[in-house]
Amino acid sequence: MILSTRFYLSVVFLYLPGIIYFFLHPVASLSFANSQDKMFWDKKYGTEAYIFGKEPVEFLREHIGLLPRGKVLDIAMGEGRNAVFLAKHGFEVDGCDISERAIKKARELARESNVAIHAFVADLETYQLPKDTYDVIACFYYLQRDLVPQMKAALKPGGMIIYETYTTENREHGFEGPKNMNYLLKPNELLDLFKDLKIIYYRELVLNNKKAIASLIAKK
Ligand SMILES: C[S@@+](CC[C@H](N)C(=O)[O-])C[C@H]1O[C@@H](n2cnc3c(N)ncnc32)[C@H](O)[C@@H]1O
Repeated sequence: MILSTRFYLSVVFLYLPGIIYFFLHPVASLSFANSQDKMFWDKKYGTEAYIFGKEPVEFLREHIGLLPRGKVLDIAMGEGRNAVFLAKHGFEVDGCDISERAIKKARELARESNVAIHAFVADLETYQLPKDTYDVIACFYYLQRDLVPQMKAALKPGGMIIYETYTTENREHGFEGPKNMNYLLKPNELLDLFKDLKIIYYRELVLNNKKAIASLIAKK
């Protein structure tokens, strides 16, 4: 009896790591991928300099007048160049990013610009956007297709999305930017993703022979 108990115990301990791995594998591999992303971006942002600069995306600067004033969420905000610009224009700004270093730099940029923003660390693969909360959702140079339904649900009625990111053409031209096709929009894809909203503005182009992008403003 003692022998067989020992036998069962040793079998359990021998196979325990395998059993744990079997049950946790899908979760473990997901969080591993995300922690890789986090490490990648934390390393990129580990400089004194602001790698994307302190000035907002030109598309935001040019079209801020179209956006309804109120509460805005800047998705994957990076070092805060767009969030701070929105705060300077009277928006109440929430901004999130997976990188702690990005969030720290965004807070510093807000402080030196004398504006308040609510910047927080969140992994958008798991974070749940609050529903019916925002007048504007801004997303620049971040593509997570399965987040789009949540982005729409997070808008108040009459709220607007402002979105710009790279298309597959960016890679074809060999411009700087992501090479992974998962992070590149196909022709008309951004338009299709938001076609159930009212499209206020849409374009797809190569800009200044430097980058190929799609830009959209849409209203719920
Ligand atoms: C190209 S940068 C754009 C930053 C910013 N929107 C801008 O225009 O300056 C992409 C951003 O996505 C963030 N990111 C990547 N994966 C993420 C995730 N799963 N959740 C939240 N942010 C993520 C990165 O940390 C990075 O700041």
